[in-house]
Amino acid sequence: MLRIITNPNLILRKKSQPVADLNSPEIQQLIPAMLETMLKADGVGLAAPQIGQNIKLVTIQFEGETYIMINPRIIRKSFFKDWGEEGCLSVPGVAGKVNRPRAIKVNFINEKGENQILAASKMLARIIQHELDHLDGVLFIDKAKQLKSTLTNG
Ligand code: NI
Repeated sequence: MLRIITNPNLILRKKSQPVADLNSPEIQQLIPAMLETMLKADGVGLAAPQIGQNIKLVTIQFEGETYIMINPRIIRKSFFKDWGEEGCLSVPGVAGKVNRPRAIKVNFINEKGENQILAASKMLARIIQHELDHLDGVLFIDKAKQLKSTLTNG
């Protein structure tokens, strides 16, 4: 399992660079390591900056589906937005409500090197936007209202 970097580490604030070569040994090792780390940490998504790599690579697990997004880019956003609660493995113990477009289309390269366009709405759209924000050095706490502690006693 990779070590997850937490706020206020400045790595989380840097802009990530595109992945140049999906087939490089580094990337081919990083993808399964990120998936394992996300699953063990019980996260729904993980962006490469969270494990110390400022590159455009994101893993997501949602409703039994795994998404590996390389060089992702949101190409359409709905006019309508929703507030929804978010947390982040890099901001442990904190949750807050973030207003985001309800539906998006995202363009990315998958782990096989295939160009993909995915239409997502509601929770999946929210997760994708949260993870892509990481690639721009943005954390959900920058956008959230009603931040609260999720730490429980005992
Ligand atoms: Ni996060």
